[in-house]
Amino acid sequence: MKPIESKLPSVGTTIFTLMSQLAAQHGAVNLSQGFPDFSPPQPLLDIVERCLRGRYHQYALMPGSLALRAAIAEKLVSLYGVTADPADEITVTSGATEAIFGAIQAVVRRDDEVIVFDPCYDSYEPSITLAGGRTVHVPLTLPDFAIDWERLAAAVSDRTRLVIVNSPHNPSGALLGAADWDRLAALLRPHDCYLLSDEVYEHVVFDGKRHATVLAQPELKSRCFAVFSFGKTYHATGWKLGYCVAPRELTAELRRVHQYVTFASTSPLQQALAEYMTAHPEHHLGLPAFYQERRDYFAGLLAETSFRALPAPGTYFQLADYSEISRQSDVDFARWLTIEHGVATIPVSVFYEKPPDIRVVRFCFAKENATLDAAAERLRRL
Ligand SMILES: Cc1ncc(COP(=O)(O)O)c(C=O)c1O
Repeated sequence: MKPIESKLPSVGTTIFTLMSQLAAQHGAVNLSQGFPDFSPPQPLLDIVERCLRGRYHQYALMPGSLALRAAIAEKLVSLYGVTADPADEITVTSGATEAIFGAIQAVVRRDDEVIVFDPCYDSYEPSITLAGGRTVHVPLTLPDFAIDWERLAAAVSDRTRLVIVNSPHNPSGALLGAADWDRLAALLRPHDCYLLSDEVYEHVVFDGKRHATVLAQPELKSRCFAVFSFGKTYHATGWKLGYCVAPRELTAELRRVHQYVTFASTSPLQQALAEYMTAHPEHHLGLPAFYQERRDYFAGLLAETSFRALPAPGTYFQLADYSEISRQSDVDFARWLTIEHGVATIPVSVFYEKPPDIRVVRFCFAKENATLDAAAERLRRL
């Protein structure tokens, strides 16, 4: 046999896995990978337990359980005033990751261009490459991580098949507002291309702001896959459940892929989430305050160190500049911080095709106060 010719030659183990492994090896406080160290709400766990003892053990419906799709539709109306038909516009997937993969495979063809904004979440480009597409990286502006409209206008062409946006934005926490969506709609109007809006942190928005979903912009909604994550919303990233809202024609194409990637996602958890969402809307309504308290607590701790916290308007990530501590590259700094000082972070350069000259790492503050305290005690020594 000849050596295998990889379809993803530049893909290795992700930085998130690597940093978590390094953290475990060196007994570091792990503020790298984006997951909470606290449990989902107890009433939700009680429902899961009941569902596991019940009759939800066989394949769910391919597009998702009816009860869960109905609960999602209900939430879209009550929270955003947006309607989506559970029958053919909402699909439950195995995490937002599967929805992103499916949407990309559904529309991107060989040699199509897909525009992403750097710093960019790591799952987009490998999916584009597998579909035969070409990723075009457009950097967000610094220091506020906003869309550079001129560069975007220059990048969009007849070759553009898809544009991928992410708000609230990982890793910066930057938010897109209604005016941004209007501007994007105007910019894309002459072009025959689709949009993928990654809104997995929809409920983690601070300082009295509200999440502006792409679904509230009618022109964009008509050409968009909007992707959400139950893992992020219910402190249950390991459940790998999410969903995609898209117009009928796009949903049909997404389901063609979904049908042969996973066919259907886990039954008892879908049933449990449907029941919990309906009975406890206060959970997601309370998330902004819940996470803002953690953000402010962690910012207070960072203020006692030599890190400089950057603005954090959304998500459960805090970017911090370490220029006062070290001149090392962020990858070297993150390794050194984990191995020598026992705190794991994510270097921001890994989210870029061409990293800018900044010294910034990402902390995840979705952690118990005791975890954040333990990290801060180590960071204060630097
Ligand atoms: C921006 C972004 N999109 C998608 C995902 C994946 O979500 P899920 O765990 O539901 O697959 C993540 C997880 O970290 C993320 O940060």
